[in-house]
Amino acid sequence: EVEVEVTDYAFPFEGPFGSYDQMQLQRGLQVYTEICSACHGLELLAFRNLHDEGGPALPEDQMRAYAEFYEVFDETLFDGEGDFRAATPSDHFPSSSLSTAPDLTLMAKARAGFHGPYGTGISQFVNGMGGAEYIASLMTGYHEEPECALEGEPMDGYYNVAFAAGGFPESCIDEKGKHMVPGSWISMAPPLYGDDVDYADGHSTELEEVSQDVAAFLMWTAEPKLVARKQAGLSGVLFLTVLSVLLYLTNKRLWAPHK
Ligand code: HEM
Repeated sequence: EVEVEVTDYAFPFEGPFGSYDQMQLQRGLQVYTEICSACHGLELLAFRNLHDEGGPALPEDQMRAYAEFYEVFDETLFDGEGDFRAATPSDHFPSSSLSTAPDLTLMAKARAGFHGPYGTGISQFVNGMGGAEYIASLMTGYHEEPECALEGEPMDGYYNVAFAAGGFPESCIDEKGKHMVPGSWISMAPPLYGDDVDYADGHSTELEEVSQDVAAFLMWTAEPKLVARKQAGLSGVLFLTVLSVLLYLTNKRLWAPHK
């Protein structure tokens, strides 16, 4: 089993009362747009969703202007021959332009950052599933190649301590078959270094901050109803608590004459 290093970042959407931070989602959208979208798609997300309450909630005119910035191929144009036109709010984001780069819409749910002790899922229950932590840790997880890797054949890709599924040099595996260093080699070059973007809201652009912003945005694309679901769950628990108290009192009262 490959060991990985995932940092338990504190995201505002964690815990029973957590919710997305609108400004953070807008910053994350900016990072995706300016950097990640060069290779990765978001094909399950429609432009109009950027206007949704609880998400980045761009004002409607900004959302429309954002959509127009993209071109989509429309088969109905030109008497069925098709042609490119500016995207409208109902169009989806493009799919990945680099075939080896996975679509990112659901990535925060496809990957887990935390595993419960002995697979019980308790850690997931307490800490969340950690997809956002994983993505942020992947962004900050690029390190110099470890000593042991320099002894063997040169590796393809980049050493990343959060990435589990990549290549791993023989020279970093000991006699017992154990990996001597965490992570593996990923084919994605480090996309972020810090100070990669200019934020309009004056927020810090350090690597760790920008990484958390894009991770939060990708958590929202994967789980846009996270906050609504938490609220429904919470009112459910509240309702059941009140109901139990009432049933208990009713029960006492009904049986009181027979005691
Ligand atoms: C893989 C995020 C920018 C190329 C991935 C994965 C994530 C990710 C989460 C999946 C890792 C996994 O399988 O567990 C991002 C983010 C970016 C970004 C948040 C912007 C900040 C880029 C850019 C390129 C790129 C600009 C191309 C120049 C790739 C490729 C893979 C990948 C080729 C597959 C790597 C492999 O399986 O070895 N990226 N990425 N990414 N990304 Fe990116």
